[in-house]
Amino acid sequence: PLVSMTDMLNKALEGKYAVGQFNINNLEWTQGILAAAEEEKSPVILGVSEGAARHMSGFYTVVKMVEGLIHDMKITVPVAIHLDHGSSFDKCKEAIDAGFTSVMIDGSHHPIDENIEMTKKVVEYAHAKGVSVEAEVGTVGGQEDDVIGGIQYADLQECVRIVNESGIDTLAPALGSVHGPYHGEPNLGFKEMEEIRDAVKLPLVLHGGTGIPTHDIQKAISLGTSKINVNTENQISFTKKVREVLAAKPNEYDPRKYIVPGRDEIKATVIGKIREFGSSNKA
Ligand code: G3H
Ligand code: ZN
Repeated sequence: PLVSMTDMLNKALEGKYAVGQFNINNLEWTQGILAAAEEEKSPVILGVSEGAARHMSGFYTVVKMVEGLIHDMKITVPVAIHLDHGSSFDKCKEAIDAGFTSVMIDGSHHPIDENIEMTKKVVEYAHAKGVSVEAEVGTVGGQEDDVIGGIQYADLQECVRIVNESGIDTLAPALGSVHGPYHGEPNLGFKEMEEIRDAVKLPLVLHGGTGIPTHDIQKAISLGTSKINVNTENQISFTKKVREVLAAKPNEYDPRKYIVPGRDEIKATVIGKIREFGSSNKA
């Protein structure tokens, strides 16, 4: 069933595992992720960026597609539809009005007072409708950025302020992770993670989950990380498989013949992540 993230993340924090957020792009992506979660009996968060929502024609289409799949695939595990890196109050409102059960308001590129202000406004609107809210402090590095240079570590006092002043359900403190592949080993701020966990007492989110070694994932979970976002890894596994199939069968023209193997790769990748994050049999 469709639910917010609140319950799943509080249980994850308590039980010392993490729930995966896997970003979706289309029907087959969503099928692969839902099938993996159901098979593993794991709660799951479907991440939808504003760009991905545009690609799927809008928030309404996303919600109806996910609802349809939950029904037709007989999905019994808890599923959240979550706006990933929402850029404004208006975008979050649009997603909530369409039926999203969770939103991230990413005000991290604004000065902290503005970030808190916009986050607070989203929380007021979202909580009235039972929708959970994630906020970000600091800056997650991007693919194009120099790994160290592009990253702004979350400030402890700013984390405490945004949690206390806005009433969010979960916080993403940027602590050295990057979106897209890492250039070399990631250097995550575990000491800061522990301090933030102790100060805010909320489940924490780790963005940039692709390419983080298992020992770092385990350490992050032990320090209060209850949600881990993965996008790039599924993109890579899907595209690699589709390339292989098309190269091996240059005369193939039935789209299902190459999309289905790609979908199966996504499912396998997500099963691997769910096991790594420890959320199997936690539905
Ligand atoms: O919000 C999405 C995630 O942070 C994606 O991270 O590109 O490293 O998989 P990733
Ligand atoms: Zn992210």
